[in-house]
Amino acid sequence: MIVGIIGLGYVGLPLAVAFAEEGRRVIAVDLDAERVAAINAGISTIEDVPSSRLAAVGDTIVATTDYGRLAEADAVLICVPTPLTPNREPDLGPLLGAGRALGESLRAGQLVVLESTTFPGTTREHLVPLLEAASGLVAARDFHVAFSPERVDPGRIDHTLRTTPKVLGGLTPACAARAREVYEVVCDTIVEVASPEAAEMSKLLENIFRSVNIALMNELAILADRMGIDIWEVVDAAATKPYGFMRFEPGPGMGGHCLPVDPFYLSWRARQFDFQTEFIELAGKINQQMPYHCFERIERVLNDAGKPVKGSRIAILGVSYKAGIGDVRESPALKLMQLLAQRGADLGFHDPHVAELAELSLRSEPLEELLDGTDLVVIVTAHPNIDHVAIAQRVPLLLDLRGVTRNSPATAALRL
Ligand SMILES: NC(=O)c1ccc[n+]([C@@H]2O[C@H](COP(=O)([O-])OP(=O)(O)OC[C@H]3O[C@@H](n4cnc5c(N)ncnc54)[C@H](O)[C@@H]3O)[C@@H](O)[C@H]2O)c1
Repeated sequence: MIVGIIGLGYVGLPLAVAFAEEGRRVIAVDLDAERVAAINAGISTIEDVPSSRLAAVGDTIVATTDYGRLAEADAVLICVPTPLTPNREPDLGPLLGAGRALGESLRAGQLVVLESTTFPGTTREHLVPLLEAASGLVAARDFHVAFSPERVDPGRIDHTLRTTPKVLGGLTPACAARAREVYEVVCDTIVEVASPEAAEMSKLLENIFRSVNIALMNELAILADRMGIDIWEVVDAAATKPYGFMRFEPGPGMGGHCLPVDPFYLSWRARQFDFQTEFIELAGKINQQMPYHCFERIERVLNDAGKPVKGSRIAILGVSYKAGIGDVRESPALKLMQLLAQRGADLGFHDPHVAELAELSLRSEPLEELLDGTDLVVIVTAHPNIDHVAIAQRVPLLLDLRGVTRNSPATAALRL
């Protein structure tokens, strides 16, 4: 079996490597020629796939910008981005571009699976017509089609592609059966649902569930702050209940390519059914407000120390959207830093995973230099291998937005 993969990012590259490690040849297409060249040279472009793993599979993965090569594949998995437009509506541009280009080289007998997160109906109503129009073939008769959402969680090592159950829904039972055969090569458990739409919506449910629960924690964090209660103590206490409670953490806001984006794919789709998805909108609103709340918290902390934001030296620790990775897409740290910069703060940051924030014209500074002479240190993303408690013990003022110093009350760190 030869596997074709379109889009070699956080989703597509680990998938390509997983198939290659099982001895399947992979033809991997991406529009980004630099990324293609790096992958062919055995240089990984994402942290979850060390270059050593990529180099070990050698020529088993052939990366290319040429869609025509996909004619050689038995199954083609589409892993392109599904962002929002500036008006926060689904931007299917990359997906439709991929579908059109794939359609031109599609041949009878192939399987096409969409993995990109999207609203229910995308596979059947948007992808299939493009493939059929460009190829002259008929879906489910001449080629198989399915949707199977990706559940990769960058930086996570306790669950892998192999051990995480994979949901899939085929256009027909035969499509689902073919997709199952392909995914069983890299995945132990396949969870079949009756349609691509159910599979599309299941992925959105997973992300909306997280977004809504994080928003709930954030709202309570703002209230607890006003009431003078430590939200972390409250969460820790509630989480001792052995049933009926699931722990979520408050924080400076939500980031990444998924949680701030995906839920709005469903809200947009819902409007076509005269339906308002109120939980999604409310969660989005609260989570988007968090950098503003954190900014105001910083203002108060400095004020209490007799200092204004303007001219104060503020050191931000961690700017990626979550711990252990370098992805800054939609990171709340960016919004918070913009707000601080607008008010004239003298900003610096340290992040072992992010060398530069071009939009703020800042480079990551060595930790020791950064801490020297700061008025305030703010932990925005708590990366592993940084001793935050030790930092809290030696700097004059520290605001911990992630609760990582909470078990060391002697540090006198202030918290979200
Ligand atoms: N990153 C995650 O943690 C994650 C988790 C689950 C699902 N997803 C979903 O998977 C999809 C891909 O996300 P990602 O994080 O891997 O994106 P990414 O931005 O890391 O990678 C996408 C790749 O696709 C390429 N590309 C864009 N348009 C293309 C086209 N028309 N043809 C060929 N290549 C093209 C880009 O150059 C890039 O290399 C999205 O729908 C996302 O919501 C992401």
